[in-house]
Amino acid sequence: MSEPTGAARRRGPFKVGDQVQLTDPKGRHYTFTLEAGKQFHTHKGAFSHDELIGASEGSVVRTTGNVAYLALRPLLPDYVLSMPRGAAVVYPKDAGQILAFADIFAGARVVEAGVGSGALSAFLLRAVGDHGMLHSYERRQDFADIAQGNVERYFGGPHPAWTLTVGDLQDNLSDTEVDRVVLDMLAPWETLEAVSKALVPGGIMCAYVATTTQLARTVESIREIGCFAEPQPWESMVRNWHVEGLAVRPDHRMIGHTGFLVTARRLADGVEPPMRRRRPSKGAYGEDYEGPNKERGSGQA
Ligand SMILES: C[S@@+](CC[C@H](N)C(=O)[O-])C[C@H]1O[C@@H](n2cnc3c(N)ncnc32)[C@H](O)[C@@H]1O
Repeated sequence: MSEPTGAARRRGPFKVGDQVQLTDPKGRHYTFTLEAGKQFHTHKGAFSHDELIGASEGSVVRTTGNVAYLALRPLLPDYVLSMPRGAAVVYPKDAGQILAFADIFAGARVVEAGVGSGALSAFLLRAVGDHGMLHSYERRQDFADIAQGNVERYFGGPHPAWTLTVGDLQDNLSDTEVDRVVLDMLAPWETLEAVSKALVPGGIMCAYVATTTQLARTVESIREIGCFAEPQPWESMVRNWHVEGLAVRPDHRMIGHTGFLVTARRLADGVEPPMRRRRPSKGAYGEDYEGPNKERGSGQA
């Protein structure tokens, strides 16, 4: 049985063309591609790539200045944070949440927009696998080119499940019978009509947005379009820990904000979303509220 795309690049001794991530004594990372006969230069001397070709992952190399570097293949979270960027990437902690809560499964048919730098595309491709489908839409040709380079460098060539279309999702979405739609863009609400036509009943749309105003508009627009079950908005925070002897505490610094996520499930055609049992909070749709669904609170404060 042949291995899934990219799997052979993730194990075994280092080979020409592999990505290597070096860690220096201060914990700093440097990533490069192995080439026969080439030198890796640091400000404390150099070493030859040939020393790593054929060596085990997890080996240590020393520069001519006797500085030791640990050599490992970059994990996908490392890779997406060090690759060339056009647009800001989905942070790995959020990519993990998307894979789990948008329920991206092997063999799924997934649509994604925008592609940006291709970070989320790589996570989605690993999850759907060679027999799934990922159709990614990106409005900017320059970003699409960067994303294609990043994704193909990661998998070692084109991925059989991936199609990339340049254009706005809402004007170009040609897929039908899609299981999942994942949106990372400024105005996901502009795509909801097209997305709702593409999704199968029970399918999931998932949007990743950076600000509270985008989050509110996305959630209210999903409610307004009427063919989704009640949307679920959330955010996740990850706190790394310092563990050393008796000093066991959260790190002093953390990434305080990345973005918000919303998922919603497509109802069967012609079905009215069940009324929410709970009345909106007092004042939620009061006279100061200007967005979609104003009638929910009958304008009462
Ligand atoms: C934040 S970036 C996406 C980053 C990407 N998820 C990643 O992990 O690298 C947002 C992208 O959406 C694209 N975009 C915005 N609106 C779009 C639309 N309606 N259709 C397709 N692409 C869109 C932008 O050009 C931009 O590249």
